Amino acid sequence: MGDIFEAVREDIAGEHSAIIQYLYHAYATSDEELRGKLESIARDEMRHFKWLNEWLVKNGQKPSIDRAPVISTGSLKSLIEADIKAEEDTIKQYIEHKAMTDDEELIALIDRIVADERSHREEFAKILEELESRDDAETGNPAEEKSGPQLAAHEAALLQQALEHEYTSLLQYLYHYFTTGGSDEYEDFSIDEMKHFGWFAEALAERGFQPLLEHRVEELKSDPESAAKSNLTLEEQAIKKFNEAREKIQDQEIKDIFDLALEHETYHAFSLKKELEKLKKLSGKRFTVGSLKDNGKEEKR
Ligand SMILES: [Fe+2]
Ligand SMILES: [Fe+2]
Ligand SMILES: [Fe+2]
Ligand SMILES: [Fe+2]
Repeated sequence: MGDIFEAVREDIAGEHSAIIQYLYHAYATSDEELRGKLESIARDEMRHFKWLNEWLVKNGQKPSIDRAPVISTGSLKSLIEADIKAEEDTIKQYIEHKAMTDDEELIALIDRIVADERSHREEFAKILEELESRDDAETGNPAEEKSGPQLAAHEAALLQQALEHEYTSLLQYLYHYFTTGGSDEYEDFSIDEMKHFGWFAEALAERGFQPLLEHRVEELKSDPESAAKSNLTLEEQAIKKFNEAREKIQDQEIKDIFDLALEHETYHAFSLKKELEKLKKLSGKRFTVGSLKDNGKEEKR
């Protein structure tokens, strides 16, 4: 019998790739209704990702933000076919993993997730039917469907950079949400970053650029003080980059997105500074009590 924690980590990597794959597919169509449906399925996968990580942490394991490979390009029809296949493979995998455990909570969680995956498979099948009944022209190369406001390549690069920053921040907040005992603030901030991610990605897609969904999360710290510090660094980088970007962009709609994201990042940075002050005071107190105790035993002079 395999390692259940390894198996759950594999499921989490699958959920992460499902989120990103479905978002790629959402950004590949200009049909707003279809994009909405795909984004809504991606949001379900985000909850699965979160629940499984919470289960891992509750059982003394580190959370996982690994991601399995994704299918990001192709005709819209071929993408939806890939999504149906992804759901079928996922359901099979969950059923295999469920047989490896007698943990009641995990079994209940898997049952709930599998019910969602079955409903996703049905939704994708309906979408495919709908696409097949439409004109061939509409199911062709998604890049040719685009017709929206124009954007210069250097402006697109700035949006892309912001998008990568949001993906990184969102994962980092989620990770710290898992490791610092479920801080509401980190959960809220990760939701804010997820929204920003969506704004930047949609702004690119609507202007004919394929958003690239890659992050650059490096080393992740688990203790609250290091976590708050590295989150604050990310926020300060965001504020600097976004301020520079908004000056170089002509498109008013994109300037407005940067402005609103900047308001949020400023608030995030403010809260993190407060949190750090609080944590520093706490660790100062611990240090004092510790040194007093140690003085008795280890005083050498
Ligand atoms: Fe899922
Ligand atoms: Fe699914
Ligand atoms: Fe953000
Ligand atoms: Fe932020």
